[in-house]
Amino acid sequence: MNKKIVIAIDGFSGCGKSSTAKAVAAQLNYGYIDTGAMYRAVTLYFVENHISITDSKHVNEALRKIEISFKYNDKKGRNETYLNGLNVEDEIRKMYVSDQVSEVSAIVEVRNAMVSQQRKMAKSKGIVMDGRDIGTVVFPDAELKVFMTTDVKVRAERRQKELLEQGEAANLDEIIENFKKRDHLDTTRKQSPLRKADDAIALDTTSLNFEDQVKRIVDLAFAKINEL
Ligand code: DC
Repeated sequence: MNKKIVIAIDGFSGCGKSSTAKAVAAQLNYGYIDTGAMYRAVTLYFVENHISITDSKHVNEALRKIEISFKYNDKKGRNETYLNGLNVEDEIRKMYVSDQVSEVSAIVEVRNAMVSQQRKMAKSKGIVMDGRDIGTVVFPDAELKVFMTTDVKVRAERRQKELLEQGEAANLDEIIENFKKRDHLDTTRKQSPLRKADDAIALDTTSLNFEDQVKRIVDLAFAKINEL
């Protein structure tokens, strides 16, 4: 297969976008970029360094000091997020980061910095990128755009299980509230609100199993590649 495309996967928090995008990338032998992890890493930096999110000078100074990269961990079989050379993959998934990430990702300076890094990271085609604004802002010309949705209770149950596997016991109602709050902030913010691009394909995964949702996207990707 020599024609390579950009696949943009957007959708609500906790729909399984990242794990789906990762599996799609592995099947196509494409690169994968988790843009949510980038906003989470910025949030972690802001929390640890007490950056005032209402002070744009402070925010800009902080952004200049932040370097985010991804490295594949062979032992764990996963891509991991690094913040200024430190592995923060587990830390950025914790609830205290989830609680603040929507506010941080609504800041225009933060978005501009991340979008420009994301475009650089995907200079060559053959990439799967997941987030909230990939099909609308980062890659409006992506050949394949998918917009994922899942019922909020199903999302919360899946997230609770994941957190438990990482040793963090979390209350289901609190997770539901966190998702609802983030959905609201993500869809109503002024800067690049979460919305389905007109040419994105809607995929409701509420009653799909993981293999099926991956297969749907891989099939769509092959159909696109064959059209080129
Ligand atoms: O996908 P996630 O839950 O790890 O994303 C964390 C947060 O980052 C989410 O609340 C919204 C924000 N985000 C964003 O604004 N734009 C993106 N492209 C990706 C994530």
